[in-house]
Amino acid sequence: MPRAKILVIPGSMRTGSHNAKLAALAAKEFALADADVTRISLVDYPLPLYDADVEAKSGVPRHATQLKQMIAAHHGVFIVTPEYNASLPPTLKNAVDWISRASERGEKPLSVFERRAFALGSASPLHFGGFRALMALRQVLEIGCGALVIPEQIAVPHAAEAFDDRDNLRDSELAAGLQALARRLIAVAEQVGQA
Ligand SMILES: Cc1cc2nc3c(=O)[nH]c(=O)nc-3n(C[C@H](O)[C@H](O)[C@H](O)COP(=O)(O)O)c2cc1C
Repeated sequence: MPRAKILVIPGSMRTGSHNAKLAALAAKEFALADADVTRISLVDYPLPLYDADVEAKSGVPRHATQLKQMIAAHHGVFIVTPEYNASLPPTLKNAVDWISRASERGEKPLSVFERRAFALGSASPLHFGGFRALMALRQVLEIGCGALVIPEQIAVPHAAEAFDDRDNLRDSELAAGLQALARRLIAVAEQVGQA
């Protein structure tokens, strides 16, 4: 198989986002582990709030189809989610919901979630590092969309102080965890891509 292609999606659109910082660092780790990395921002894929009437009238929005195509063009996907009220934020859930409705040329709904591997990360200024958002997003992807989400994940607590002035993680265990996660996602993505 050629070099694994990994897509990195930060679930926050906020300027100065901790999760965007973690996504950028993860993208570096994937590249160091010899993957081809694409990092996108949901800012570039604005979507209306999912509404079945909107879908019936206008179809799936172009940006949702483009996001689905981005996922389809990669072997592995790393999603970094903020935690809002113990769950994932509405913008990220809305994007997943629209992607789950996007199918082209008669393909099976949700088929973009098959034959590729997903991994999750989160960062929060609070103590648990967004751990509950990871659980919620895992449920959405695994149970809702049928995706393979690897068990390795990273939750960065106290995110405002967690990164040094080069945007690396100060905590060596967390840094090693991110490196291990990156290698594992690539390995599983390669296996799933070959199956
Ligand atoms: C509506 C709302 C709810 C939040 N709920 C939680 C929460 O349950 N747990 C948590 O750790 N942080 C919570 N936060 C704080 C976010 O973790 C914090 O705003 C974080 O910086 C968002 O991620 P970002 O920096 O990537 O944008 C909440 C923030 C907002 C706006």
